[in-house]
Amino acid sequence: MRDDDSTVQVDDRARKIFKGVFDEGTLLTMYRLGRRLQLTAFSGVLKSGKESSVVHAEPHCAVKVYAIGASAFNRFRKYIQGDERFRRVKPDRRGITFAWCQKEFRNLHIAHAAGVRCPKPLGFMANVLAMEFIGEGTTPAPRLADAAPADPAAVIRAIVDGMVKLHRSNLVHGDLSPYNILLHDEQPVFIDFSQGVLRSHPLANELLQRDVRNIAAYAEKAGIALTAEDIHQRLSVPS
Ligand SMILES: Nc1ncnc2c1ncn2[C@@H]1O[C@H](COP(=O)(O)OP(=O)(O)OP(=O)(O)O)[C@@H](O)[C@H]1O
Ligand SMILES: [Mg+2]
Repeated sequence: MRDDDSTVQVDDRARKIFKGVFDEGTLLTMYRLGRRLQLTAFSGVLKSGKESSVVHAEPHCAVKVYAIGASAFNRFRKYIQGDERFRRVKPDRRGITFAWCQKEFRNLHIAHAAGVRCPKPLGFMANVLAMEFIGEGTTPAPRLADAAPADPAAVIRAIVDGMVKLHRSNLVHGDLSPYNILLHDEQPVFIDFSQGVLRSHPLANELLQRDVRNIAAYAEKAGIALTAEDIHQRLSVPS
């Protein structure tokens, strides 16, 4: 197939699955990114929401699609504008949404390179991000919030190890909680890095405090003796 937009047709099967979920431009982006990454099929919507939807693709890939609608624009802008990596972004809906998608890709890249358990980022284009699928077949691993780990203490230790690695690599997840951690093979896997910021970002400290509080609250609920102060100590920053 020629690498020219006007000749690319989104195949009928994908069009049927995603009818009413994605606009034509987004379908085209998905198709082009899929071709670049040699994906063989888009096989179903895992999660569909106002801000983003997540689709399973073959082989073993999760594709996250950000809506270019107005719903999250102000929140996205707040984070993008303090981010030294995105100084030249056009501050309109498309510019900010594309930057948001690229931000998740780059954050995942930093985290993955630092040895944090997270999906391997595969590529992005406009408002579409492709990453390694965490789960079996087409079933995503459950969120920690919905799972009952066999050994909660080990899971929490692994979460704190992941936070230490993130911290050393200069990144704050920014939305870390049992809702953005999947439990795969009894191991926690961090997902949803779009809100992540570098430690130089004006909101970094506030976000880090919240991430730490969320994990300490999870530990408390699981009956594990680990306070926010303990986690801060592990990260060696004042609490
Ligand atoms: N790499 C992945 N592998 C498998 N499933 C994934 C992956 N990324 C996302 N998902 C699925 O999609 C859901 C939503 O992903 P994510 O948290 O990144 O998006 P979100 O826009 O924040 O959604 P939500 O508002 O539900 O948190 C996850 O809970 C999970 O079920
Ligand atoms: Mg999420």
